[in-house]
Amino acid sequence: MSKKKLVVLSGAGISAESGIKTFRDNNGLWENHDVTEVASPQGWAKDPHLVLDFYNQRRKQLYECQPNNGHYGLVELEKYFEVSIITQNIDDLHEQAGSSDVLHLHGELKKVRSTTDESLVYDLEGWELKWGDTCEKGSQLRPHIVWFGEAVPAIETAIEIAARADIFVVVGTSLNVYPAAGLLNYVPSATPIYIIDPHQPAFTPSKNITFIQEKGTEGVPQLINLLTN
Ligand code: APR
Repeated sequence: MSKKKLVVLSGAGISAESGIKTFRDNNGLWENHDVTEVASPQGWAKDPHLVLDFYNQRRKQLYECQPNNGHYGLVELEKYFEVSIITQNIDDLHEQAGSSDVLHLHGELKKVRSTTDESLVYDLEGWELKWGDTCEKGSQLRPHIVWFGEAVPAIETAIEIAARADIFVVVGTSLNVYPAAGLLNYVPSATPIYIIDPHQPAFTPSKNITFIQEKGTEGVPQLINLLTN
């Protein structure tokens, strides 16, 4: 018998216990910065040095972090289900843990891309992207991140994945940011939804939704128990 399809939508909360700060628990500031300064096309136009430095620091921090039992639990679920992860996170902790199918909605911290040809995407060696680092066409490279106000190119693929879910799991996202939060609308109506979060995110309660009020490292093992016993 083929395995059921289990789709995960993850957010900053799953990486919190690895030491990466979430966004909306800090008075609207992200590592002491107004997000529009460091994560928008306007911010990049105004002060690209600040933006490069900001993401360099995030990247440096990521190299010091390891996946936690939340990430590893999602890997374990691959024994029982065909698991696809749709993540809003720019870290690669799902991949480091060993998840085999991860779609990044908001880009990837360890990748960079051309400022003139968005199809030119590269793996960055090390943590530092410098002003003057260029693509093969000679244009400045920027972080491979979807900034506020930019399109989310992976959303169409994410919608197709969500629409095929037999089980849908939401972990560590406040469900404040669209279009990611809107993915719940594409989950088939008979599909059970499990939400793991220590604080209740902004979802509309329905009979299909089970809320597991726990951190990722506790909640994912509980989910495995629920689904496999
Ligand atoms: N385990 C699980 N969830 C946790 C934990 C934890 N240990 N700690 C906090 N959380 C929850 C919070 O309760 C909150 O609901 O994680 C959620 C984090 O929400 P946000 O900070 O809003 O992060 P996220 O939903 O991923 O943000 C979406 O917004 O800033 C943009 O592009 C950025 O991808 C990001 C997007």
